[in-house]
Amino acid sequence: MENRQAIVVTFANQKGGVTKTTSVANMAMMFTFAGLRVLIVDCDPQGNLTYTCGYTPDLLEQTLYDCLKGTHPLRNVLRQTWLDPASGEFLDPTNQALMDEYQQAEKAVIPGPDLVPINIVASSADSELQSNPAWGALLRNKLSPLLAFYDYILLDTNPGLGKLTVNAFCAADYVVIPLVPEVLPTQGLMKLVNSMEETRASGINPDLQVAGIIFTRVKYRNHKDIIRYVRNEFAPTVGFSCFKTEIKESAAFSMAAITRSVVVVAEPYGEHALAYWQLLMELVERIGGSGGAQIRQTYERVLQQKQDAEQQKLERGLGKKEPQSSSQDV
Ligand SMILES: Nc1ncnc2c1ncn2[C@@H]1O[C@H](COP(=O)(O)OP(=O)(O)OP(=O)(O)O)[C@@H](O)[C@H]1O
Ligand SMILES: [Mg+2]
Repeated sequence: MENRQAIVVTFANQKGGVTKTTSVANMAMMFTFAGLRVLIVDCDPQGNLTYTCGYTPDLLEQTLYDCLKGTHPLRNVLRQTWLDPASGEFLDPTNQALMDEYQQAEKAVIPGPDLVPINIVASSADSELQSNPAWGALLRNKLSPLLAFYDYILLDTNPGLGKLTVNAFCAADYVVIPLVPEVLPTQGLMKLVNSMEETRASGINPDLQVAGIIFTRVKYRNHKDIIRYVRNEFAPTVGFSCFKTEIKESAAFSMAAITRSVVVVAEPYGEHALAYWQLLMELVERIGGSGGAQIRQTYERVLQQKQDAEQQKLERGLGKKEPQSSSQDV
């Protein structure tokens, strides 16, 4: 029996495409790189997180939803994720031919975070869970026995404020709100605030807190007025704060997604990966837990590796310009 006490963080915004899934997947990988135990829970019937992490949602017979509806524990549907360190891709462990190929070729695989997957079957949750008077506490109760095994548990939600998202609010210590700083998503923030307030008022999770708003997919020229408004007016009015680190709009994210990877793995020394590390350090400062020192050390190691890689590149470049005879002189 381990004696950790996971901090549970829900990433939510009923607006679609604001990088909830991308943020969960990147942060989970960074926690894993830092040697922390992390569980990710896909609460979106689209199954984007499940897919990103290598699994094919529609091929899974048992998911989060079966646990919420039934009596069996989450541990029954927990899946280990695996990555190919050479390509940075998540592998599909249910693809036996692929796994055999890796084993025969003795290709390295590294473990990613643990995953509670989901698939489209869960899209009937809003009507099906209705009959259970305690529906709001289902996920919270199911997660409870797992808290001792993880340092952090990250919940990805769907673009809505239905029963699965409310379950994720009820189960969380903190909510993180990724926001693309445009007019419509910003207008929707009040609905999110109200939904969290209802969760607190329900009595299931009166201590729910907001860790902060992350500005994502930022295009500075277009977005600076809205960012200023949210930072200086909206957030203080509702008692939220915003993360200092902003994540820029970049094709690097969809490029990584195409290969079933995430930027902190696919381009670990790129500016977006480093921005995510900064964000994670800010997050852990806000939510606490056992990860702060390990995350900082790992970030410093990444910076050192980046420097070494640049140095090697420089030396290779210089080497090419050396006259052919130089090696014979030795
Ligand atoms: N910083 C970024 N810049 C540009 N594109 C991004 C960025 N981050 C993520 N993306 C891409 O934007 C799309 C939406 O991201 P993502 O799926 O993470 O959003 P989401 O909030 O989870 O969406 P949904 O509400 O549908 O679940 C994806 O194609 C993703 O690869
Ligand atoms: Mg998503």
